[in-house]
Amino acid sequence: MLSAMIGAQTLQEFIVARESEFAYATGDLSRLLTDLSTAAKMVNRHVNRAGLSGIIGQHDGGNSTNVQGETQQKLDVYADNTFVRVLKSCLKVGGVVSEEQPDVIHVDHSKRAGGSGYGRYVVCIDPLDGSSNIDVNISVGTIFSILRRKSDMGSVPQIDDFLQPASDCVAAGYILYGSSTMLVYSTGCGVNGFTYDPSIGEFFLSHPDLKFPAESTIYSVNDARLADGPSVVQDYVNTVRAEGMNARYVGALVADFHRNLLKGGIFLYPGTTSRPEGKLRMLYEAQPLAFLAAQAGGSATDGHIDLLKRTPLSLHERTPLYIGEKAAVARLQAAFDGVRVKADS
Ligand code: AHG
Ligand code: MN
Ligand code: MN
Repeated sequence: MLSAMIGAQTLQEFIVARESEFAYATGDLSRLLTDLSTAAKMVNRHVNRAGLSGIIGQHDGGNSTNVQGETQQKLDVYADNTFVRVLKSCLKVGGVVSEEQPDVIHVDHSKRAGGSGYGRYVVCIDPLDGSSNIDVNISVGTIFSILRRKSDMGSVPQIDDFLQPASDCVAAGYILYGSSTMLVYSTGCGVNGFTYDPSIGEFFLSHPDLKFPAESTIYSVNDARLADGPSVVQDYVNTVRAEGMNARYVGALVADFHRNLLKGGIFLYPGTTSRPEGKLRMLYEAQPLAFLAAQAGGSATDGHIDLLKRTPLSLHERTPLYIGEKAAVARLQAAFDGVRVKADS
């Protein structure tokens, strides 16, 4: 079957054409993005075949947990292995932080042809986001950010290389394994989306220069946890609900974010009484999407501060997350600020 996308730019063509827009245009970032897209194709194949190839369900009979204490699914482990293996083979990478691994994975290329110590970029990754959706054939994704190291190139990356504000990302993106598989990314010059054609194994530019629609019609929140969250968020949701906004919640951040980016909306995951710090992780969930949201004309906050500006303090730090179309997020932020002013007076 001929691809319906024939004539459209491939991801590879696009990456090369846009290389010069990037401040440190040496081709290194292009190489890294290409390698991530290769790993995405491998994971995509597995996700598509999940029901057939015995990889649905919990890893190690449910006895295996990650650093967050969450039970690992077989596909969490497969996606982690695949992305980490591909990133380790990329000469441009010096280190990786993955949701599935407790510590920084240092990547030393000194024994490889063309390698000179640890590469200039570090990568933060959620290899499989929304993994509880796998068993029920609902969308999942991968989320990543790429940072330029602050420490000397060639030396072992330091923890501060990973603990940078989202505004300092050089690139961020996600892959959505859904009814179509898409790769959406930004290097700081807008957001572009590519749809995968499995018949020829290529991503094609299908959603150029993505921007949030000006009007939000959707709010996304786990309704069952709402009562345990801040009253500001409860009031906000009650108000927008009464105003006619629609509720949509997939339970995979990447899918909820993607839908809201295309349709216009806000995603909310507050801190709760049992978990005031929230559930979602700064480095490989909130920060990459905050970077993308800003590039698409939206924004993200933790209720206190614009998430682009917050510097994380630890690798697996969590955060409340409110993200989406700018006016919707600003309205919620104003409500948070209003409550704070009242409490202070
Ligand atoms: P992960 O599968 O990477 O652990 O992430 C799951 C996250 C996120 O994708 C989603 O938005 C959120 O968990 C859903 O949480 P609830 O089930 O508490 O709503
Ligand atoms: Mn996740
Ligand atoms: Mn995950």
